[in-house]
Amino acid sequence: MAETQKFLLFRKKANEEPRYERYEVPLRKGMTILEALFYIQDHFDSTLAFRYSCRGAICGSCSVTVDKVPQLACKTQVSKVKAAKKPPKLPELNFGDISDWNKEEEILIEPLPNMEVVKDLVVDMEPFWAFYREVEPYLEREWNDESPESTQSSEDAKSIENLVYCILCGLCWSCPVNASNKDYLGPSSLAKGYRFIADSRISDEHREGILEKVWKKDGVPACEKFFVCNRVCPKGVKPGTAIKKIREEWLRDE
Ligand code: SF4
Ligand code: FES
Repeated sequence: MAETQKFLLFRKKANEEPRYERYEVPLRKGMTILEALFYIQDHFDSTLAFRYSCRGAICGSCSVTVDKVPQLACKTQVSKVKAAKKPPKLPELNFGDISDWNKEEEILIEPLPNMEVVKDLVVDMEPFWAFYREVEPYLEREWNDESPESTQSSEDAKSIENLVYCILCGLCWSCPVNASNKDYLGPSSLAKGYRFIADSRISDEHREGILEKVWKKDGVPACEKFFVCNRVCPKGVKPGTAIKKIREEWLRDE
């Protein structure tokens, strides 16, 4: 008989209290949490709601909380969850009553923290996107149509490379400041802001504009240096370190 894995899943319908449901899924080699969710949807409950797109850790859609650690469902292998070293000093993430969770045997799957649940594992990410848009994280200038259209030395490109890797998955929204302050721009928006502040191709005017936006009360000054963002980010973006660099830029410009 095929080896199986037990799951305890957070379930919620609009206007209903959350509940937890148990499922047992036959394992196959390399099976990911996302594949287990598909199995549950296909074989037990077609109404189970979760997000995904690329299945390759690129689109940032499949973020969930697995055994109390925010992570990408498509990048997390079922067989490795229990043995995985958890990032240190994560905040306590509470979604509902899990007093009967068998931690040794059941993998617990819950939504992204600090966002409103729309249904099951699907959360409303609009505040996340609103803060992202607020920072205006893009280049704005007249491009020369002649080659090279945009020049940047490899050193300059290298200096922002890790920030460019952000896939906007929202895992860093598990920051305790996001839990307590609904207006906090959040680690990824601030890191995205720094990605352009530090881009050698940005105009001085736009750079100043982004600096002003990220330096508002609920931006960089609200960061309490937990660095949870650095520890949960699946792409090595290190938003907390970017926030620290913005502080340095701001103080240098003062
Ligand atoms: S900084 Fe990392 S954790 Fe945050 S949204 Fe970007 S990729 Fe995800
Ligand atoms: S499905 Fe795209 S990152 Fe997981």
